[in-house]
Amino acid sequence: MTVITPYVLFTDKMWYFEMPDHDTWKPQLETIEKIETNKAHNFSTAPTVECNVKAARTGWFSHEQYPVINTVSQIISQTFLTKIAEEEEYEIPKEFNLTNSWLNIYKKGQFAAPHKHGRYIFSAVYFVKVPQDSGAKLCFHKREKSVFNSKKPDQQDTLMIDAKEGMVMIFNGYLLHSVTPNASEKTRLTMAANYLIDYRDKKINSRENYV
Ligand SMILES: [Fe+2]
Repeated sequence: MTVITPYVLFTDKMWYFEMPDHDTWKPQLETIEKIETNKAHNFSTAPTVECNVKAARTGWFSHEQYPVINTVSQIISQTFLTKIAEEEEYEIPKEFNLTNSWLNIYKKGQFAAPHKHGRYIFSAVYFVKVPQDSGAKLCFHKREKSVFNSKKPDQQDTLMIDAKEGMVMIFNGYLLHSVTPNASEKTRLTMAANYLIDYRDKKINSRENYV
């Protein structure tokens, strides 16, 4: 009997973890949701141009306006991106620049259509508030549809990860992804952040390496 051997060519990874001190961050981020959605006062920083997030959102650079968004985003990079880079043995400086961070406020039926975060090496989504009946899933999509229909999990065109409250998901910003509609009457709140590698003054970027 001839053996047919499969060979795995490329893989992509995403990582997830429970956000430390979630009970501390959640009420503070919910306060920002209240500030931004209070129609009596026009404090919204939401961009006016529609994007792939079909929900209310705060300004792309909300970490500059709201210290708690900056703090949470920095914890994610300094504690977790560093660890991921080490464990994956990525040959990069283990420091990351937070470039932008914002909140997404999903009412019932609202969602994020498939999109990428362009040039960002690491993107993070923190599921701050996920009502029980919200049905929150982060979906990753293949860039091209497969020719075949396979039931094997590693060959699906779309992979869905259940999102529980307090969970942070990390992935490469080049990956095509989306978020399922909020099925709950209550709002779903997420915080997103993008990071670039800081190559400044690092040995890996020095002339010694250009031999
Ligand atoms: Fe996204």
